[in-house]
Amino acid sequence: MKAVILAGGEGTRLRPLTLSTPKPVAPVVDRPFLRHQLDLLAGAGVAEVIISVAYHPERVEAVFGDGRAFGVRIRYAVEETPLGTGGAVKNASALLDERTIVLNGDILADLDLRAVVARHEAQGAAATIVLTPVSNPSAYGLVETDLEGRVLRFVEKPRPEQIRSNTINAGIYILETRVLELMPPGEKHSIERQFFPALLARGDRVLGPTHEGYWIDIGTPQKYLQVHRDILAGRFAVTLDGAPRGGGWVHPEARVAPGAVLEAPFYVGPGSEVEAGAHLGPDAVLVADVRVAAGARIRDSVLWRGDTVGPEAEIGGSLLGPDVRVGRKARVEGALLGEGTVLSDFSRTCRP
Ligand code: GDD
Ligand code: MG
Repeated sequence: MKAVILAGGEGTRLRPLTLSTPKPVAPVVDRPFLRHQLDLLAGAGVAEVIISVAYHPERVEAVFGDGRAFGVRIRYAVEETPLGTGGAVKNASALLDERTIVLNGDILADLDLRAVVARHEAQGAAATIVLTPVSNPSAYGLVETDLEGRVLRFVEKPRPEQIRSNTINAGIYILETRVLELMPPGEKHSIERQFFPALLARGDRVLGPTHEGYWIDIGTPQKYLQVHRDILAGRFAVTLDGAPRGGGWVHPEARVAPGAVLEAPFYVGPGSEVEAGAHLGPDAVLVADVRVAAGARIRDSVLWRGDTVGPEAEIGGSLLGPDVRVGRKARVEGALLGEGTVLSDFSRTCRP
C-alpha cells in the first residue's frame, strides 16, 4: 500500500510565511510539517509515499529527498499547473498499486491508520473518508453518514442551511485505486466537489468512520499557532528533538543563560541563544538559531530560523518567518512577519 500526500496548495492563508517556505516544509516545532505525516504513515507500515507538489516543488524535494532519512521511500508527482485535489491524485496514479492512502498535506491526527485500513478491507469499501467532529463545519467538507457509518452525502464548504451534522472530512482517505477511473486524466478536478459526489451517486460503498482523537488543519495562522500549543502541552504527542527541561524542551545545541526565565511550556531549538534576564513562555517556540537578548519577553509565538530579538522587546501571539529582526523595546502583538522583516527599535505592531 502506498500513500499520496497532497502538498500542492499555495498556503495562501499562511502568507507571508508561505511566500518563501511552502506549507509542507514549514516548521512545526522542531521539524518540517510533513515529517509529522511521514511518521504517521511509516508507523502504519506504508513503505512508499508520493508527495504531490505544484508550488515550489524544489523546496519540498530539497528537504525530504528520497525519504531515506525519514524511514520511507519518497517519490514526487509534480504538476505544471495545480490540478486540484482530485487531479493531483489522478496525476500520481501511474505510481500507485491497488490500494492508496491519501492525506491532505496540512492536517495532523493521532489516528490509528492500520485500524482504519483493516475496517475498510473487512467491509469491502471502495473508499473510506475519515471524519472528525468540529463545532462549525462551514470551512470544511461536510460529510453525513447513516447509522452503519456509510457515507450518504459530501458537501464541500457547506452553506449554513446545508449543515445537518457536525462531522467533516478530515482529509484522510483510503481508496481502492481503481475508483480513480472516475476522474478525467490531465484535467483540473476536485476530490471533494466532484469525485466523492460522483462516487456516491454511482452507489459505491464509501465508509465514514469518525476519529475522536486529536485532529487539526494547520492552514491558518490561528491553527498553525494552535498546533504548537498542542504539541507543547502534549495534546498531540511528539517526542521532540531536544531534552525535556522544566516543563519544556531545550535542544542540546542551544544556549540558555542561567539567568533566563523559562516558563513552561516552551521549545528552544538548536543553535538558539537566550540571554540572562530574557523571559520565554508560556508557549514560546524558537525553531532554530534564534537569539533573544536580555530583558526580552516572548510568549505564545513561533519564531523561525535565524530571528533576533533585541533587548526588552516583547513578542506575543505572533508568527515570525525566518531571519526577522526585532529591535530593542519593540512590541510585537498578534503579528505575522514575513522573511527578513526588520522592526527598528521601539516599533509597535499594536496600539501604543
Ligand atoms: N498537488 C496538489 N495540487 N495539491 C493541492 C492542490 C493542487 O492543485 N490544491 C490543494 N492541494 C492540497 C493542499 O496543499 C492541502 O494540503 C490539501 O490539498 C487541501 O487543500 P486546502 O486548500 O488546504 O483545502 P481546505 O483546507 O480548504 O479543505 C480541505 O481540507 C479540509 C480538512 O482540513 C478539504 O479536503 C475539506 O473537505 C476538508 O474538510
Ligand atoms: Mg487545509
